[in-house]
Amino acid sequence: MAHRGKFITFEGLDGCGKSTQLERLAQTLRAQGLPVVVTREPGGTSTGEKIRNILLDSSTIGLAPMAELALMFASRVQHIKEIIQPALNAGNVVLCDRFTDSSEAYQGGGRKLGIEPILDLHRILCEGMQPDVTILMDSDVAPSIERARRRNTKHPSKNGSPEGDENRFEQESRAFFGRVRNAYLAIAVREPERVVVVDARGSPDETQKKIGDIVQRRLKLVAKE
Ligand code: TYD
Repeated sequence: MAHRGKFITFEGLDGCGKSTQLERLAQTLRAQGLPVVVTREPGGTSTGEKIRNILLDSSTIGLAPMAELALMFASRVQHIKEIIQPALNAGNVVLCDRFTDSSEAYQGGGRKLGIEPILDLHRILCEGMQPDVTILMDSDVAPSIERARRRNTKHPSKNGSPEGDENRFEQESRAFFGRVRNAYLAIAVREPERVVVVDARGSPDETQKKIGDIVQRRLKLVAKE
């Protein structure tokens, strides 16, 4: 799938500071005159946002891991077709908060489905579409999850859940998030040409500088006159 734009994905544990960094990078690139589209998974389209509500709502009980995986991919396929591919075809820089690496880390690692179903589904349903670069924000499990839980209690409406609710994933154990982190790091080892690990334990400004340098170096982005 050839395209004229650039596809940049952000990955990491809940609460690692991903959304903040994604917004900051969007601002920097826009200030350089580049057209930027910011989007997220699960979600990004109206169908995807409905699927997201099912996936993140803590009242969704007993969802089988394979059903969870299938819903993640249903949202993703719609997202690629409706938003990502057209935006890339039009020459935009697409910044996406999570993509298939999240399925590999959370469903493959966290839920112990293994990587094969994720890679197979990605090949079949997403035609193997790969980001030009993936920023993997690496952070320690315990503080990240603490932050995510605090954030969701403060802004409960984010996933349409009742006041004070957490998202379904943020109720998982430390062991779950330990597996998620390990699965992420394994992807970075397997695909070093695409995935760059950024230590996200410093201040937001330090992390922003690291990410900005990587994106400029890797993608040699040049604004149109
Ligand atoms: P969200 O509140 O957007 O978390 P964050 O801001 O940390 O990204 O919730 C998205 C949740 O969905 C997050 O816990 C990770 C999970 N997820 C998966 O388990 N698999 C996937 O393929 C994707 C895209 C997300």
